[in-house]
Amino acid sequence: MRRGSVAWLLVIGVVAGGIAAAVALALPWLPTPASREAGRIDFVIWFVIVICIVIFSIVAAALVYSIVAFRARPDDLEDGPPIHGHTGLEIVWTIIPTVLVTAIAIVSAIVLSRDDALGKNVLHVDVTAQQFAWSFTYPDAKGLTSGTLMLPKGRSVQLVLHSKDVIHSFWVPQFGQKEDTVPGLTTTLHITPDRLGTFPVICTELCGLGHSVMRTQAVVMTPAAFAKWLKQQTAAISSPNPSVSGAAVFKNNGCGACHTLTAAGTSGKVGPDLDKLPAYAAEAKQPLESFVQESIVSPNAYIQPGYPKGVMPQTFGSSLSKPQLDALVQYLVSSSKKG
Ligand code: CUA
Repeated sequence: MRRGSVAWLLVIGVVAGGIAAAVALALPWLPTPASREAGRIDFVIWFVIVICIVIFSIVAAALVYSIVAFRARPDDLEDGPPIHGHTGLEIVWTIIPTVLVTAIAIVSAIVLSRDDALGKNVLHVDVTAQQFAWSFTYPDAKGLTSGTLMLPKGRSVQLVLHSKDVIHSFWVPQFGQKEDTVPGLTTTLHITPDRLGTFPVICTELCGLGHSVMRTQAVVMTPAAFAKWLKQQTAAISSPNPSVSGAAVFKNNGCGACHTLTAAGTSGKVGPDLDKLPAYAAEAKQPLESFVQESIVSPNAYIQPGYPKGVMPQTFGSSLSKPQLDALVQYLVSSSKKG
């Protein structure tokens, strides 16, 4: 091969590699990781991207050079020379991909096993998914339940996921992993948060009309702030104040994802507007309090015109305790009268 050709191949390869690297680096393809597991997964991604950019440069250089240098002249109607095989080339293009794919497999296997390895002093959190809300229970803290996933930084967290109805999927982009919640099955996900902040919790499996609003937040706090939060919340469980509990039941069961209620600052549009409960009850010719109670326990008994049937979960009658249900009914009755 002439020296000029080698120089051209190099120039084209460097330009192609530069463009590919710019596309990879300049655009924010991935969020900044907020867990150790996501950091390792990002490493695997960049390991593969670097390999891809190198291969892309080599292929682009050979392709562009060949198209330009070996193109047929306008009056050239001859066939090309009869070439048959090249054992040396075939060995090279078999060995290089084998080495690369094996390297990617080994790196991935190491990262997978380290990501799944629980640390010391594991925090267990039960995650419950239902149409269309998330709730998080801390079994080691008297079964405290929260609508927001509160986590301490630097501690190994084992999420134990359940679904009450259909398949959902738990996803916090900054934690780098997704895990399905499947009715009748228990799935788990291991996270070690390593960055303070508030991140979105997203349902990433189409699960019905309210799928797009099935969101909440994960808050990563310092271990001291987390311990303080746990203490305050468990104290609140021990001495319930009815008006506080009603608001908490509303919040922790994700009602706001689907319903508007001014008192709770929510603006969901999937289900009926709870600020209008007195008007709805009048339309249904029922007393307000029993109307609200029936709508929570057996939501399909009466459907407000203009809203879909069968969307509201039918599980609240069994999942809420009697005091929780009473508190929620009282909260909705008093808030909607004000609103
Ligand atoms: Cu739950 Cu989509």
